[in-house]
Amino acid sequence: MREVLKGNIVHAPSLGVLETVENGYLVLDDGKIAGIYKELPADCAHLPCHDYGDRIIMQSFADMHLHAPQYPMLGMGMDLPLMDWLSTYTFRTEARFADTEYARRTYRRLAEELIRNGTTRVCMFSSLHVEATWILMEELERVGITGYVGKVNMDRNALPGVLEETTEESLRETLRWLDGCRSETVKPILTPRFTPSCSDVLMEQLGVLAQERGLYVQSHLSESAGEIELVQRLHPSLSYWQTYEKSGLWRDHTLMAHCVHSDAQERRAMKDRGVVVVHCADSNVNICSGVCPVRLMLDEGLWVTLGSDIAGGAQLPMYQVITATIRASKARRVLDGWNSDFLTEAEAYYLGTTAGHRYFGAGNGFAVGDALHAVVLDDSEFPEPARELSVQERFERALYLMQRRHVTDVWSQGKCVVKNGAVIANAAI
Ligand code: GUN
Ligand code: FE
Repeated sequence: MREVLKGNIVHAPSLGVLETVENGYLVLDDGKIAGIYKELPADCAHLPCHDYGDRIIMQSFADMHLHAPQYPMLGMGMDLPLMDWLSTYTFRTEARFADTEYARRTYRRLAEELIRNGTTRVCMFSSLHVEATWILMEELERVGITGYVGKVNMDRNALPGVLEETTEESLRETLRWLDGCRSETVKPILTPRFTPSCSDVLMEQLGVLAQERGLYVQSHLSESAGEIELVQRLHPSLSYWQTYEKSGLWRDHTLMAHCVHSDAQERRAMKDRGVVVVHCADSNVNICSGVCPVRLMLDEGLWVTLGSDIAGGAQLPMYQVITATIRASKARRVLDGWNSDFLTEAEAYYLGTTAGHRYFGAGNGFAVGDALHAVVLDDSEFPEPARELSVQERFERALYLMQRRHVTDVWSQGKCVVKNGAVIANAAI
C-alpha cells in the first residue's frame, strides 16, 4: 500500500547536517520510504494522506543503552558513585524482577512511556531473570518498539542470595532464554553486565556463544574511577578493554556504554574492531562518573551513539538525552580550556537518531528504502509564533522544549503506532 505524510520534514543524513522540507511530502510504499518531495508527484495525488498540517515530522529516536529493571528507581538514589550505587540501590531493585507479575506491570508501563516519547529502537539490559526478560521483549513488541534485549549475566561481586548467579546457572539460563526468544523485531543480545560482575570462565563461554550463534554483545566500559580500579585489581596485566577482547567479546558491533575514561589506546581498539560507543550524558553527571570527550571520539572517527542509561540517567525521553549531551559537551569544552568544540543541535540529534538506527541496518536520515521511524511533533504551544521561524529553528527549539504531550504520532517499522497521543498496541501479543 502507498500512502503520504504531509508536514514540515526534518532529518539528519550525516553528522552536523539537517535537511528540512517545509510543507513537504513523505511518500511510503508498504511502510518503506519511497521519497521526500517539496511538491507531491502527480502519480501520488490520489494516495491516502496523513495531513499533519504545520506539525514537524522528524526521525524517531534510538536509545542504545538503558536498564529496564531500573525503571522503578527512576529519579532516585543518585547520591552515590557507581559501585556503591549498584550494591546499595540497583541490585536490590533488579532483584524484584523474579516476580513475573511485577515485571509485566512495570515493563508495560515502560514500553508505553518509551513509544509515546518517540523511542522506536532500543538496545536494552534486562535483569538476570529469564521469564522477566521474555516479558520485557513481549511488551516492547506489543507497542511497536524494535531492537535488542539482553538477559544480564553476573556471577560475581553482586548480592549473593538477592541477585547473583553461579557461573553454571548463568550459562544454562542464557541458553534457555535464547531458545525461547521468538520475536522477529525484538531480538536477543548477549549482555555480560561488565568485567567486575563476570568471571573469566563466564566471559569466555559467552564469547564462544557470540561467535557460534553470530550474536551481538553489549556491556559497560571505563565508566567511573572506582570501577576501573577494581578491574585493574582483578586483571593486573590487562587494560579494561582487553578483558573483553581476551574472551572474544570485543567484536564488530559490540556496544560499550560510557567509555568516559577510555584512553587513546582503548579508543583506537574500539575504532579498529568496530566497537560502538554509547554515550550516556545524563547518567555520567548524575552518578558523578565524569564528562566524556565525545568531540574527540568523533574527530577520531569512532561510532558514537546515545543512551538514556536509566536509572543512572533520570531522563527516559531521548530528546532530553540529546540536550543533556549538548550540555555535557559544553562542560567538556570548559574542562578542555575552551580547546574542544561543543556539539551542535544537529550533531547531537544525529547521534540520537541516525547513528543509532544505523546499528539496525538503516541508512542515513530518512533514507529511501528504509522502514519509516518517525515522530510527529506539535509545537503550536511553544513561545514564539511558529510562522516567524524557520523549520530548522523550530526543530532546534523543540529539542529543548518538547514533552510527551507534544508528540502526537509515532511511526515505527513503517506503521503508525501512536496516534493523537494514544498507543495503538498489538492486542495479539
Ligand atoms: N555498570 C554495571 N552495571 C551498571 C548499571 O546498571 N548502570 C550503570 N550506569 N553502569 C553499570
Ligand atoms: Fe548502564
